[in-house]
Amino acid sequence: MKDVTKAGDLRGKYVLLRASLNIPLKEGQVQNHFRLERALPTLRYLKEQGAKTIVIAHIGREPEETLKPVFAALEKYLPLHWGGDVLGEEFATRRELMGEGDILLAENIRQHAGETENDPVLVEHLASVAEVYVNDAFAAAHREHASTFGVAQMLPAYAGLTFIEEVTELQKVMDPQAPALFLLGGAKFATKMPLVEKYLEIYEHVFIGGALANDIFKARGLEVGRSMVSDVSLADAPFLHDKKLLVPIDVIVDGPDGRQVKRPEEVTKEEKIMDCGPMTIDMLATYIEKAKTILWNGPFGAYEIGYTQSTEITARHVAGADAYSVIGGGDTVAAVEKLHINECFGFVSIAGGAMLTFLEHGSTSVVDLFRE
Ligand code: 3PG
Repeated sequence: MKDVTKAGDLRGKYVLLRASLNIPLKEGQVQNHFRLERALPTLRYLKEQGAKTIVIAHIGREPEETLKPVFAALEKYLPLHWGGDVLGEEFATRRELMGEGDILLAENIRQHAGETENDPVLVEHLASVAEVYVNDAFAAAHREHASTFGVAQMLPAYAGLTFIEEVTELQKVMDPQAPALFLLGGAKFATKMPLVEKYLEIYEHVFIGGALANDIFKARGLEVGRSMVSDVSLADAPFLHDKKLLVPIDVIVDGPDGRQVKRPEEVTKEEKIMDCGPMTIDMLATYIEKAKTILWNGPFGAYEIGYTQSTEITARHVAGADAYSVIGGGDTVAAVEKLHINECFGFVSIAGGAMLTFLEHGSTSVVDLFRE
């Protein structure tokens, strides 16, 4: 891959760096430092090379969201300046004032609709502010946006150090040491179907938890009550009765009789499945213990509203296992961050959706831009 170390002499050159700084905020404070820390190697490298680094990133999905809290948190790691809107006068002035090794962070690029539309006018502007482009935003490597895709075709383009590390680590688990176990949680089966089919072929076991499992229960004719389900039907899915496919053997439900542990066959119309139960966690532990490769994306319960148990206990089991483990996805990573066990995994990806896209296709259109 064309990585940033092959970019030649960068001293005094303007480098446009696309970073992954989409970090959850609460009351204006960043909720974890994982993506900040993973942005540092390339930032430090460019600084050492004497580049004038202009950092472009997005945060959230609402155009009014700002990167200012991220700026405040990143500033604690290394000196940088606030550039404001990349199309604004303040930005132009600050850019002119940059010296060798300076870093300027621009405001949330998604404040411009042209970003997600890969608008040629925005692409042109982004290309005009730098001489070299570096993409370290692997978490957005499934987005063909102006700052991730369009501008890469206008300037000499290189992948950042973290971007390369992500590709290298994810490639490893696509050619796994057996027995290999894929743990897949979260929701939206429609987007994950090809992934499930693929990993049932190349892994020994695929466990499906979270809301995805509800779709399987439903397709097998079980009552799922008020549980979250996708709008896709799995009734004809070829993998429905595949022996390599594992699903929860017990679930935690909420309903008129309060919170209970039940077998999937016992769920009633009034109940809602919220998490995997203790027998499922134990069952998974036996597979985790035997596995040589473990790949995990997505929580097993409604993690964001407090159903964290199966995800957190399983995270501890994976952390303690001998297997080479790779994990990714916002809530999965939040769980290991909270438990302070990040160091116990083979690799923790900064990506969620981009990781899944990469795992499904072996690449993404943005990754392809950096292949030699
Ligand atoms: C990210 O930065 O986490 C990804 O780009 C996902 O965000 P998006 O789905 O809003 O692009």
